[in-house]
Amino acid sequence: MQNFDLVVIGGGPGGYVAAIRAAQLGMSVACIEGRGALGGTCLNVGCIPSKALLTSSAKYAELSHLSAHGIGVEGASLDLGAMMGRKDKVVGDLTKGIAFLFKKNGVELIEGWASIPEAGQVRVSTDDGETMLAAKNILIATGSEPTPLPGIDIDETDVLSSTGALALSEVPQHLAVIGAGVIGLELGQVWSRLGAKVTVVEYLDRILPGIDGEIAKLAQRALSKRGLKFQLGRKVTGIERGSNGLTLSLERVGKDVTESLEADKVLVAIGRRPVTRGLGLDALGVKVDGRGFIDVDDAFQTSVPGIYAIGDCVPGPMLAHKAEEDGVACVEILAGEHGHVDYNTVPGVVYTDPEVASVGVTEETLKEAGTEYISGKFNFMANSRARSTGETDGAVKVLASPGGKLLGAHICGAHGGDLIAELVLAMTKGATVEEVARTCHAHPAMGEAVKEACLDALGRAIHA
Ligand code: FAD
Ligand code: NAI
Repeated sequence: MQNFDLVVIGGGPGGYVAAIRAAQLGMSVACIEGRGALGGTCLNVGCIPSKALLTSSAKYAELSHLSAHGIGVEGASLDLGAMMGRKDKVVGDLTKGIAFLFKKNGVELIEGWASIPEAGQVRVSTDDGETMLAAKNILIATGSEPTPLPGIDIDETDVLSSTGALALSEVPQHLAVIGAGVIGLELGQVWSRLGAKVTVVEYLDRILPGIDGEIAKLAQRALSKRGLKFQLGRKVTGIERGSNGLTLSLERVGKDVTESLEADKVLVAIGRRPVTRGLGLDALGVKVDGRGFIDVDDAFQTSVPGIYAIGDCVPGPMLAHKAEEDGVACVEILAGEHGHVDYNTVPGVVYTDPEVASVGVTEETLKEAGTEYISGKFNFMANSRARSTGETDGAVKVLASPGGKLLGAHICGAHGGDLIAELVLAMTKGATVEEVARTCHAHPAMGEAVKEACLDALGRAIHA
């Protein structure tokens, strides 16, 4: 039986980063992955293919807006097969890159599906049989999968999860998206830009729950302007397949009204759930919460000593960079170092146009908790770089303690995902709005809106 200091189950951003860091720290490490490629959800069917398609579709959509710049484009056409081919190549190159990083760092990749018969042992099953490994410590990084909608069968042909919506061979006529969360908006915008009519049906009376309400409203306005249709406050109760396509039955939430919606494809994007099936957690006594996420302590240890868990399969934001941070912190603690993740400063970015980026608390959370705060806002309309590029939708909003310490920052706007990094660093370092406002920002740049929002919190914005 092969013997390792650490066996990592799952080769996604949580697992593969943990495996590499553990090897750097001198541990003998194996990483087990069952899907036939490294990179997990993120590289194979998540972050990377979605961003590749968002970029390609943005370039296509931009062609019809270039006349404002005095540029005429004639005869532009869409080769969806080539666009998908490019996406697949980006994914393939990156997943192979991780296999190279494993070799470079001495991590042993073992292909197959893992289970844990007892602490200290891992069984790997493949079509060819089973192998047993001995492990001083075991790290579960088995990630997540789309949550199904009860009573609705996802066939990945007409009724799609995000995985199917990343691989369509034709542009739908009418794509109905269930869920105005991150996936619904990103993939909804991809297909809208490529020519589909897209209707997003959302249970709540707002889009992007969890994002600051004022910023989510700006995003909804901008996305509507770019073609997405929203039907909020509606629950999908069923989908019927007919000769002319699909009919969704909708219930108006809190009202005795039913409606229907016709579409040729439906994307179900109502959240993701942890993957732990087949690991044998029950028999081991590894505790999970009511939604199936694995309970861990501050050192990522489960209820069973020697078994740890990180990433999407534990409670917390389901984001690739959070999974990576978990993985690094977990193995650093195992090596006797001081690994730590500050979950208050984990940023989130929705890569739509405009982007929606956030870190820290929302205004709603501060109000609910009765916390005293100051806030500042600056609209991109008043930013000279935004005016020159024509990307004037949205705003930067900052929230701070009465003494000025940053508590949260929220951006709706072009490049918001890049602009938030400055505010994440500021929050991590405990900086105040005054300190950010006194930092010299290049001109003309979108980042000046960050400075102005901080000045606004102090009651002295210059360009507002
Ligand atoms: P995963 O990436 O899910 O990896 C887990 C791996 O474990 C999988 O490869 C699985 O095959 C393997 N596995 C499971 N069980 C076993 C077993 N028993 N034996 C062996 N292997 C096993 N996040 C962002 O931060 N930014 C984005 O832009 C972003 N975009 C996304 C877009 C989409 C469409 C989706 C679906 C998700 C997106 N996410 C994004 C979320 C991100 O993909 C996840 O948060 C991230 O992948 C979680 O990493 P993980 O390592 O915890 O799990
Ligand atoms: P989500 O949690 O972001 O949004 C789901 C939406 O569906 C919510 O608005 C919810 O109210 C709504 N909903 C739930 N049940 C419904 C129903 N029956 N009818 C109508 N609406 C319903 O989940 P999503 O979009 O599936 O994404 C899953 C996870 O993937 C996210 O938590 C996110 O962390 C991650 N992700 C991150 C990305 C990024 O960082 N850019 C991109 C894509 C996904």
